[in-house]
Amino acid sequence: MAQLYAGPPVTGLNFVGREKEIKYITELLKLGQNIVLIAPRRYGKTSLVLEVLSRMKNPEIYSAYIDVFSIPTLEILPVQITREVLKNHLLDSIFASTKNSALAMLKNLNLKAAIEDFEYILGFSETQKNSWELLEKSIDFIDQFPAKHQKRMICAFDEFGDISKLDGDKIIKLFRSKIQMHKNASYIFSGSYESVMSSLFIEKNAPFFRFARVINLGNIEKEKFIQFFQAQLKNYQIECQNEYLTEILNFTKGHPYYSQLALQEIVIFNALNKRNPDFGELLEQLLVVEKNYIEKSWEEISVSKENVRLIMSVVQMRNKVYSDLKNSGINVSRAIKSLTQNGTISKTERGYELTDPLLSYWIETNVMKNI
Ligand SMILES: Nc1ncnc2c1ncn2[C@@H]1O[C@H](COP(=O)(O)OP(=O)(O)O)[C@@H](O)[C@H]1O
Ligand SMILES: [Mg+2]
Repeated sequence: MAQLYAGPPVTGLNFVGREKEIKYITELLKLGQNIVLIAPRRYGKTSLVLEVLSRMKNPEIYSAYIDVFSIPTLEILPVQITREVLKNHLLDSIFASTKNSALAMLKNLNLKAAIEDFEYILGFSETQKNSWELLEKSIDFIDQFPAKHQKRMICAFDEFGDISKLDGDKIIKLFRSKIQMHKNASYIFSGSYESVMSSLFIEKNAPFFRFARVINLGNIEKEKFIQFFQAQLKNYQIECQNEYLTEILNFTKGHPYYSQLALQEIVIFNALNKRNPDFGELLEQLLVVEKNYIEKSWEEISVSKENVRLIMSVVQMRNKVYSDLKNSGINVSRAIKSLTQNGTISKTERGYELTDPLLSYWIETNVMKNI
């Protein structure tokens, strides 16, 4: 039975749509252009990055994927970088299991060969490690290892904005000074917080200003999702009308995570009730599953009264927020800026809307009715 993914990143046959983005990103990377990918949480950044890396993989191109979000301390960062680069020669596991002993590392002939060219790797075995130096060397390893083997490298730093939690400014300066010299590597940096990414890459005084092409990731084409839904549901012998699926996709607007979650819930509902949920039942089920997440998101928003007021207006009025709030005493442009920058709302042809369709629906049905 096919697996359904609502949560972990998806690749290969489970990856839906985004053909244009993949083509564009791939071409840019091939030209040596660095990329910045910005989208709110659960929009499919990790999936897209992994899919691009996997499609670009060929004997001439090495790849590395580093998830900065999952790196708790500065010491782990050079380990992860080195490991991911070594993975291209299938040396990642042996490095991970032997890195505490120089002797053990050198016992493996292939790892030994790599170490002969990149002696810094032995530094991981020292009890008094110099993590900063290891980091400097490992960043250059991203470029020099492929150079040594006449290859190119595509290296992704996922949730790069989180780098500031390690040793902020200093690491960022180091990255910039190293990476700008790299000739064999192209980089993808992805991040969820527009404000953080913008202060790193977009603003005039940003450390990586004009260093990378910025791509704001949107939703996935609805038609692609409907085709995918039909194919997946067929595996479970579930029949759904196109109109019903269209209604669901109109609700999720092609939001990758919620669309997948809806699909999963249809399958679960069928297993339990031997029929499709009607649209209302499905929305209710989505709210049950996402209760904690939605409440937490709302809690974060509620910190600012101004933002709450603006969000209410966005949910209700969409394109008329300015006139709606004209005499409300709140600073509309400031609220819009702050909510756009933290990824809560975005501008569309129809005006502003929440980037999270379920949160929007929850506000409409739960918060609005109480006022
Ligand atoms: N291209 C895609 N096709 C199908 N589902 C996707 C796609 N991208 C993301 N998803 C869905 O969204 C969820 C979150 O994706 P992920 O890549 O982890 O997002 P992010 O890294 O932006 O938080 C995945 O578990 C999957 O269900
Ligand atoms: Mg991610």
